[in-house]
Amino acid sequence: MTQARAIKIAPSILSADFADFGREIAAIESQGADWVHVDVMDGHFVPNLTFGPPLVKAIRRHVTTVMDVHLMIAPVDPFIDAFAEAGADIITAHLEAGPHIHRTLQAIRGTGKKAGLALNPGTAVEAAAPLLDLCDLVCVMTVNPGFGGQKFIHSQIDKVRSLHAMIGDRPILVEIDGGVTPETAPLVAAAGADVLVAGSAVFSGGSVANPAPYGANIRAIRGAAEAARV
Ligand code: DX5
Ligand code: ZN
Repeated sequence: MTQARAIKIAPSILSADFADFGREIAAIESQGADWVHVDVMDGHFVPNLTFGPPLVKAIRRHVTTVMDVHLMIAPVDPFIDAFAEAGADIITAHLEAGPHIHRTLQAIRGTGKKAGLALNPGTAVEAAAPLLDLCDLVCVMTVNPGFGGQKFIHSQIDKVRSLHAMIGDRPILVEIDGGVTPETAPLVAAAGADVLVAGSAVFSGGSVANPAPYGANIRAIRGAAEAARV
């Protein structure tokens, strides 16, 4: 069962120094990050812009753990090969990004990468049911995607619980993205979360010159989550 799996912490580099991604990634990995979460935004599916495949490719060589690429873009399908070639380990697409999410997940799997499905806060968990067997990960958005530093939406905790039950024994990770802090991490961990994405709560107070706060922040989130696991 998923409860036996350790919690993974995936810092989002959306909260890192954009002029220094290489050293920021080295800093979070040396401070205990399990994965590196990369937020790709297109100014269309979400009201913010970040970066595309060339930057993801450039930072790939700095990642020694797992590169978890969260695509907040529409359309998705024309870009899947480029993000796969850029070195993503996991490629997550949004259910809401177009009418053919089933095809999108098939295409991600077709590249040999792990496939993730993200659900916006306004999307019912039941929408994921016909797609689960194409997923290695389901990401429950606990904020509306587009920006770091937003407030956790508590109504999503029930969605996490339902998703965890729907998944059962299948090897599918439940990821939480948005507003994760030492206060909210236990709520989702108790509901069945496996991977916690955290941007502002990991990067606050630290820097590449002073990375120890990153480690303290990661340990605080992990400790609170693991204590709440059933
Ligand atoms: C939001 C992004 C998140 C974001 C989380 O659209 O998908 O990954 O960086 O940031 P925090 O942890 O600050 O809410
Ligand atoms: Zn994200």
